[in-house]
Amino acid sequence: MAKKIIVVIGATGNQGSSVANTFLGLPEWHVRALTRNPSSDASELLAAKGAEVVQGDLAEPSSLAKAFENANAIFLNTDFWEVYRPAKAALDAEGKAPEAAGIQAFTNETTNGKNAVDAASAVPTLERFVYSALGSASKVSKGKYTRSLHPEAKATIVSYIEAHPTLSQKASLIYPGAYVTNALLSPRLDPSSGKYAVQMALRADIRMPIINPRESTGSFVRALIEDEAPGTKLLAYDSYLTLSEVVDRWSKASGKEAFYVTVTTKDLHEKMGLPWELLDALDAVNEFGYYDGFGLVEPHQLKKKVQTKSFEEWLGEKDWSKELSG
Ligand SMILES: NC(=O)c1ccc[n+]([C@@H]2O[C@H](COP(=O)([O-])OP(=O)(O)OC[C@H]3O[C@@H](n4cnc5c(N)ncnc54)[C@H](OP(=O)(O)O)[C@@H]3O)[C@@H](O)[C@H]2O)c1
Repeated sequence: MAKKIIVVIGATGNQGSSVANTFLGLPEWHVRALTRNPSSDASELLAAKGAEVVQGDLAEPSSLAKAFENANAIFLNTDFWEVYRPAKAALDAEGKAPEAAGIQAFTNETTNGKNAVDAASAVPTLERFVYSALGSASKVSKGKYTRSLHPEAKATIVSYIEAHPTLSQKASLIYPGAYVTNALLSPRLDPSSGKYAVQMALRADIRMPIINPRESTGSFVRALIEDEAPGTKLLAYDSYLTLSEVVDRWSKASGKEAFYVTVTTKDLHEKMGLPWELLDALDAVNEFGYYDGFGLVEPHQLKKKVQTKSFEEWLGEKDWSKELSG
């Protein structure tokens, strides 16, 4: 029997590599990995594992039409930071405010996402489309927090998908939690006190969904494609912990005392120079919760159980003498 084809966009990255690896392990699926650079190490690794690696760019619609031919499923991830970081660095070097970098990255990401949606909607064989989303701080706060454009870019693409007459009928959304590697989950040594701490502008009682994107994304995307009805919006996490529980788990695993210290976004902006692109969404989380009110399905509500490793298991697998020596 002919295999079904899944096209994975972002297959060389954190989330997409997990999706590609999961489907490479399913005999009924053929994995087509889209990349701008088929000769990168990550692309060659995918090819060695059996993926069909195709050259394509979300900015070039003609490359998508070709890459999507005969696809039964498409996983789409879009990125903000690859454009934001160098654009902000260039503005910093000129002594200019960083807001234009956010607008440039927003425009790039939303254009790329819409290109993928338009190309996917023209594929007659397509059965399922999964987009990796983020919730809109602006929407949840009814316009109060609008300065973080990275969640808005993904929310804009979600609205575009939902407004699409045919593709919306095939689409599901995955909302990945904070990555296990996210700085806000990892206490750092404060050389002045000799103690480990996370200093963050989030209340310690905020519950964070946490995911290892390279391990777990694929299992959740498989569930959305094979087990769940289209239209499912999944909050994908391995663990769902308050920030004080995160620090407690880290302390137990590392054997080091650690503290969670809540600071204000104003302090992080004025004293540490962090941009509102990163900070404004944190104020929205403090006031409205991480995904409270989004009506998302959680992993324990999936029709078939998806087993992933918890945050504690991930911490437990680390070589702490190496981790703490850096
Ligand atoms: N950090 C967190 O806690 C967190 C949590 C939830 C969501 N996120 C979101 O996750 C997103 C990044 O996902 P990730 O971590 O999986 O990505 P990543 O590891 O940074 O990799 C980016 C991927 O996107 C592909 N890509 C970028 N631009 C492309 C284009 N124009 N055409 C085709 N492919 C393109 C790259 O492929 P090639 O280079 O091979 O072409 C690469 O595979 C960000 O938008 C971020 O906001 C992050």
